[in-house]
Amino acid sequence: MIKHGLRGGLAVLGMAASLAAAAESPASLMAHYAQQAGVPVSTLSPARGEAFYRATHPGRDGGKQSCATCHTDNPRQTGKTRVGKPIEPLAPAANPQRFTDAAKVEKWFRRNCKDVLQRECTAQEKGDFIAWLNQIK
Ligand code: HEC
Repeated sequence: MIKHGLRGGLAVLGMAASLAAAAESPASLMAHYAQQAGVPVSTLSPARGEAFYRATHPGRDGGKQSCATCHTDNPRQTGKTRVGKPIEPLAPAANPQRFTDAAKVEKWFRRNCKDVLQRECTAQEKGDFIAWLNQIK
């Protein structure tokens, strides 16, 4: 009896934990950013997201930089920081952890957009970016 109750309690805890971990998905984040941008989620554009990812901007050292500088031309591949530390693939097809944690997503959008664009990304850019990555097979 006691054993049964304990097991039931643990099962509920386990479910709560997995629900918390799966609180967001690429689709729910796309909906969030579309709403923030004031556009229907169906108008987010993978093509614009890809162009944004590959667009180069002047770097501090005079060179060119883009999202692909670290995340590579193919976001299914492992990327590399400027000091050579590996970065897990950005595409959810290759890395199911991606775009499942809103706080992490926001933290890295802020940091990387400031780094590459010298400004924060707009909600529209974030939505298009995820729309592109999320349809990569
Ligand atoms: C200087 C290297 C670098 C550049 C350039 C870069 N990133 Fe990143 N990015 C990282 C690192 C490091 C992480 C965090 C490590 C990880 O999550 O594997 C990361 C993680 C992310 C994440 C987190 C996704 C998730 O759900 O885990 C997003 C979103 C992101 N980057 C967007 C961008 C965008 C948009 C650009 C271009 C404007 C960009 N990055 C350019 C290094 C870079």
